[in-house]
Amino acid sequence: MPEKLCFISSSGKPLRGSVSLAGDKSMAHRAALLAGLARGDSCIDNYLVAGVTAAMLRALAALGVPWRLEGRQLVVNGRGFSGLVPPGKPLDCGNSATTLRLLAGALAAAGLPAVLDGSPGLRQRPMKRIVTPLQMMGVAIQATEGCAPLILAGSGRPLKPLSFRLPVASAQVKSCLLLAALAADGNTTLIEPGPSRDHTERMLRSLGISVISRQVVDGDEILYETRLEPPQSLELSPLVLTLPGDISSAAFLIVAALITPGAEIEINRVGLNPTRTGLIDALWEMGAEIEIRQAGEQNGELVGDLLVRYSPLHGIHVAGPLVVRMIDEFPVFAIAAAYAEGETIVSQAEELRLKESDRIGVLCSQLRLLGADIHETSDGFVLYGDGRLDGGTVAAHGDHRLAIALAVAGLASREPVVVLGAEAYRESFPDFDAVLHALGADIALERVT
Ligand code: S3P
Repeated sequence: MPEKLCFISSSGKPLRGSVSLAGDKSMAHRAALLAGLARGDSCIDNYLVAGVTAAMLRALAALGVPWRLEGRQLVVNGRGFSGLVPPGKPLDCGNSATTLRLLAGALAAAGLPAVLDGSPGLRQRPMKRIVTPLQMMGVAIQATEGCAPLILAGSGRPLKPLSFRLPVASAQVKSCLLLAALAADGNTTLIEPGPSRDHTERMLRSLGISVISRQVVDGDEILYETRLEPPQSLELSPLVLTLPGDISSAAFLIVAALITPGAEIEINRVGLNPTRTGLIDALWEMGAEIEIRQAGEQNGELVGDLLVRYSPLHGIHVAGPLVVRMIDEFPVFAIAAAYAEGETIVSQAEELRLKESDRIGVLCSQLRLLGADIHETSDGFVLYGDGRLDGGTVAAHGDHRLAIALAVAGLASREPVVVLGAEAYRESFPDFDAVLHALGADIALERVT
């Protein structure tokens, strides 16, 4: 039986201190996969060692790619696309939709037969969004009632170039198709309705591949176009890079500091790619004191230090392109909104229902248990903040970001917050409790029997 844990968090001393975080989850997935597709030794420093990234590493091993981890340094001994071996059994992507969707694109480019599967939760995530365009490229791939397991029969190459408009902005779908497009015999153009994260494009460019991103105006809409020109040969050079701290993990610390009176913390060397900093923009608009220092480029990505101080916040309206720029941050954004004064509205965010849990329904039900005045809408929520939460017992519903966000809620509530199902936090931020302890927070992790 997997271990069952709960967080118990209480308001106590103000958070103080300076911390550094493990590497960005999205970049860790992409770096490990591209390293596995390249030929030669790639070295990735500050790699994120967590549940979801373990899924990608397990899959690489099953595809015949040797790698070793020494602390947070990952060395991958890539054998090239042609060195991948068909896996003997289904590739278990655990809870990681990024692993499954990116692998589907890479295996399509390699022309390899494979079955991609995962946890019961992953089996409920929508996969038609990659299967349909991959089929348009000539890839022999089938989903099971629109979901995993996905069966790749092993296709002939080259693949057909694709011109495709994604119905929702999604970096996982875009990245899957860009990886497949490496093996196409012409340019692929993808159009998205919003600015999804562009780490794949940046890493591919660093390997010398031509990927052009631009905004295009269509009537009164701004669209986001990505065009990839396939390389002459599928030989990718190895990567040497240091991953910046994960902004989506930093998000929990930022909100923790903003809601605890007297707090002042510094988070060093965090990734500040503009497609990922929507939460900071939203919190600034709410009145947050967040300062960016020492910003500069590192391996093609913007990186900087964040100084965050306790700040009285007020409610705002989040919609439009901001939604995708903070797509993983809504659980903790809702905590900030609960501690803010006034009305916060989130709309045009229906995609949240398709994440690790229904992040609209579950967030609203759990926050109500803590005393929040929050109401679900079809595409978001409305929350009337009065600057406080009561506390109580809530459940993470198998969702790592909910587990951590709900624990953060307890750092300023009148009574402690107990989060059941806390073990999910290890999927993306296994250092969460250690980092919070280092900042002086009152949080315990206990076994539930
Ligand atoms: C991710 C993209 C986003 C995000 C996920 C990671 C990525 O998903 O929610 O946590 O690394 O590409 P979608 O592309 O499905 O929006």
